[in-house]
Amino acid sequence: MDKFDLTGIRIREIRESDVDFIVEIEEMNLGIRRPKYWKRELQKNKEGRFLGSRIAELDERVVGFILGDIGSREFGMPENMGWIHTIGVHPDYQHKGIARMLFEDYKRRFMELDVDIIYTIVSLSDNMQLPFYEKMGFRPGNRVYLEFSLGKEPPKGDRVTDYDFRQIM
Ligand SMILES: CC(C)(COP(=O)(O)OP(=O)(O)OC[C@H]1O[C@@H](n2cnc3c(N)ncnc32)[C@H](O)[C@@H]1OP(=O)(O)O)[C@@H](O)C(=O)NCCC(=O)NCCS
Repeated sequence: MDKFDLTGIRIREIRESDVDFIVEIEEMNLGIRRPKYWKRELQKNKEGRFLGSRIAELDERVVGFILGDIGSREFGMPENMGWIHTIGVHPDYQHKGIARMLFEDYKRRFMELDVDIIYTIVSLSDNMQLPFYEKMGFRPGNRVYLEFSLGKEPPKGDRVTDYDFRQIM
């Protein structure tokens, strides 16, 4: 990691004026623009319904963000599940410990809210996020994420009841 002074970084609540910067950062990182998504999230923050988004700021500039919430995703799962939906750092400021700071701040807030386990969904081909989450201590869980394509027939292989497949999980 580069030598970088993290003392100038401030982690704070999201504000309306951050949305454009977050959208820019996401576009640089992922090639997609999601202004409507972030405006909706901002509204949820205002209503105080979720844990909400937190921002990493340096010299009044948004350099990173994290977004998650708390709650069950399905019947029978605990209400105090912590979720991280997205985390992103400006490309010029990556590998300097900013995502770790955002995660540590979020982790502390989850603990205050009695969350036991934090969940996130990451693509198996994501070679930026997977090593990051691994470093933060995340490991494969004993539930599997399933998907159903409305436009296509299910492929013949990859059966979810397949014993070898379940062993991998
Ligand atoms: C993944 C991401 C958030 C990590 O942010 P970051 O600020 O660079 O991460 P940090 O510097 O805090 O890294 C924390 C630890 O994870 C490790 N790490 C982070 N990214 C890594 C990578 N790509 N490969 C290997 N290790 C990595 C670091 O080495 C560090 O370990 P250390 O503390 O032992 O040195 C950032 O790369 C990013 O924004 N990526 C693109 C955005 C993205 O895909 N967002 C998800 C949208 S849904």
